[in-house]
Amino acid sequence: MKIDEILEKYIEKIKQELIFYNNNSYSPYSKFKVSSVLMILNNKSNLVNFIGGTNIENSSYGLTICAERVAVFNAVSNGLINNYNNKWLSLFLYVPVKEFVPPCGACRQVISEFVKDIPIVVFNKEFEFKIYYLSEIFKEVFGPSFLK
Ligand code: THU
Repeated sequence: MKIDEILEKYIEKIKQELIFYNNNSYSPYSKFKVSSVLMILNNKSNLVNFIGGTNIENSSYGLTICAERVAVFNAVSNGLINNYNNKWLSLFLYVPVKEFVPPCGACRQVISEFVKDIPIVVFNKEFEFKIYYLSEIFKEVFGPSFLK
């Protein structure tokens, strides 16, 4: 499924999921609420799954974790790793500000552990969006091949 098709067919569901996770943001220090949702296709059933996360801050600031990493870890924890059974179709990101906020470098690295490339659809406050491809915004990847 192409990203245009995905957005056309699932936009209401995507918004609903992003708003749900955004409302759960634990960000008392930055007050910067982020949510992220992965859309995953089950190749056997042909059904899609939406699994997400929010940013979770800590009074020991450096222990804060971004929404994208929580979404990825949530998917992996639920057995939805990207493989022949499940295909990660797209990652959505929502920050209710006027700018389009792309994923931070650490999250790009974590996403790249599981997918070579994926469209990352970034929504602003008005639910306007911009599409980035991981392969464009994260080149020269450090990956598992170096550890052999
Ligand atoms: N944050 C994310 O959740 N994702 C990003 O890609 C960038 C930053 C969070 C971390 C922190 O809670 C707040 O935004 C401000 O940095």
